[in-house]
Amino acid sequence: MMKQLAIIPQPVSTTYTEGVFYSDGLPEIKGAGEFSKELETVKEQLCGDIEKLHLYASEQFSGDGEKKANIDTGKIVNCVLDSSLNAGNDEAYKLIIKHDGITVSAAAGKGMFNALQTFRQLMLSHYRDGSLALPCAEITDYPRFPWRGFMLDCARHFYDVSFIKNILDIMSLHHLNRFHWHLNDDQGWRLPVPDYPWLTEVGARKLETRFQYEYYTGGFYAEDDIRGIVEYAAARHIEVIPEIDLPGHASAVLAAYPGLGCTGGPYRVEDRFGIFEDVLCAGNNEIFDLAAKVFDTLARLFPSCYVHIGGDEVRFNRWNNCPKCQKRLKEFNLEKPEQLQSWITGTLVQMLVRRGKIAIGWEEILDDCDKFPLPKDTVVMSWRGSEGGIKASKRGHKVIMSPNIDGCYLDYRQYDSPEEPGPHWAVTSTVYKSYSVDPVTPEMSEEDAAHIIGGQGHLWSELIYAGKIAEYMIFPRLCALSEVFWTSKENRHFDDFSRRLKIHRERLDCLGVQQYRGELK
Ligand code: ACM
Ligand code: ZN
Repeated sequence: MMKQLAIIPQPVSTTYTEGVFYSDGLPEIKGAGEFSKELETVKEQLCGDIEKLHLYASEQFSGDGEKKANIDTGKIVNCVLDSSLNAGNDEAYKLIIKHDGITVSAAAGKGMFNALQTFRQLMLSHYRDGSLALPCAEITDYPRFPWRGFMLDCARHFYDVSFIKNILDIMSLHHLNRFHWHLNDDQGWRLPVPDYPWLTEVGARKLETRFQYEYYTGGFYAEDDIRGIVEYAAARHIEVIPEIDLPGHASAVLAAYPGLGCTGGPYRVEDRFGIFEDVLCAGNNEIFDLAAKVFDTLARLFPSCYVHIGGDEVRFNRWNNCPKCQKRLKEFNLEKPEQLQSWITGTLVQMLVRRGKIAIGWEEILDDCDKFPLPKDTVVMSWRGSEGGIKASKRGHKVIMSPNIDGCYLDYRQYDSPEEPGPHWAVTSTVYKSYSVDPVTPEMSEEDAAHIIGGQGHLWSELIYAGKIAEYMIFPRLCALSEVFWTSKENRHFDDFSRRLKIHRERLDCLGVQQYRGELK
């Protein structure tokens, strides 16, 4: 029996029809001029995939691993513009497999790109020994949520440009369309900022002291690296959202510019896991000079209308004991230092508005903001469970859901065993858990739910020393999350996902992606 199509995320509808499509060699992809950019990108991806497939095939299959793809087979994937498909969703597409050819149609480039990523999945799972064989079928598809994200923490450990580009290619395979790039933290600062050279001279390198020996690790992204990643992502219809986390998680900034802290230091770029007491001084106006230059840099390098300003896990001890912070507290007639964070957030949001940007922040930006209400346009990212997102939606904010304990934190161990990597103190987060989360929770009203624009999976990297370990933690949980963010709840069934995952794993194997293979529940 022929392998089922086994697409992840599950399309809105798949109807199997009579017959089989068979192509000796790869079918040629041809299409409407409107989609020339999408076709070019997908052909580039397929060329890379085929090379990997041959490498994989020569190890795995009986066929001749050296056999090259025969492009001129007479069979065609015909890409067609169909304006009627744009029922309010420019990501929609149709894919029709008949015995004599494949037709993909969409009303817009995004839809066409999605269609061709689905075809790419089929190529990776069904192209074997130099030929492609598929059951005939008709697929209709569009997403449930517009925001389907993945965050990579490049601050705790540094990942190079080629690793990130590979992740973007795998994201696109799953119709994921937002790359949240965490660029600073206590353990590193990765963004070059003109006028603040020490951010990368000092803040991008940490001294590893956890082991017996001492050595420096780190790095930062040159402007050309950043432009390259943004462009690479855009060609894959992925928006890159940079995050500079302020005013907490500041050890690397403070190591570079100690004058921005309450005590003046000394500080160091941290190498330990943790939340640290030293944060930017709320009584020092120079923190906004730094933010201005950072935002200028982000506005210049990132076309997205969003900038993530962090705002999580700020410790308030220093502000409690700092004369400058206390002076500011009195000036604003505030009762507690927590309220100073909402003043800083409001100021940063306005600075971004002046640069044509909308702020996103971790849910803490909603805490203690009675005196300085959070501007309505600010997007809230929920992470300490879903409650922060529910509260934000009730207050009219757009919300991105990424509850840590419900399967969105991909650094947590995937199975309850000391042999699985992950922080010992965190809950176990199985593939099943990732699959079972829903950005819309039962207690939300319809109006609240309308504020939920989607969700994200996050990989925090304190304990993720290398790209291969990162892949092991990300997959297949991100595959499960891609289905949560794309597919309607009614159309999601874990047993069916598990069956499709068996075939989908071959795709990841073909691409040389490391993945967890243990128990799913
Ligand atoms: C977070 O995990 N501190 C957002
Ligand atoms: Zn202070």
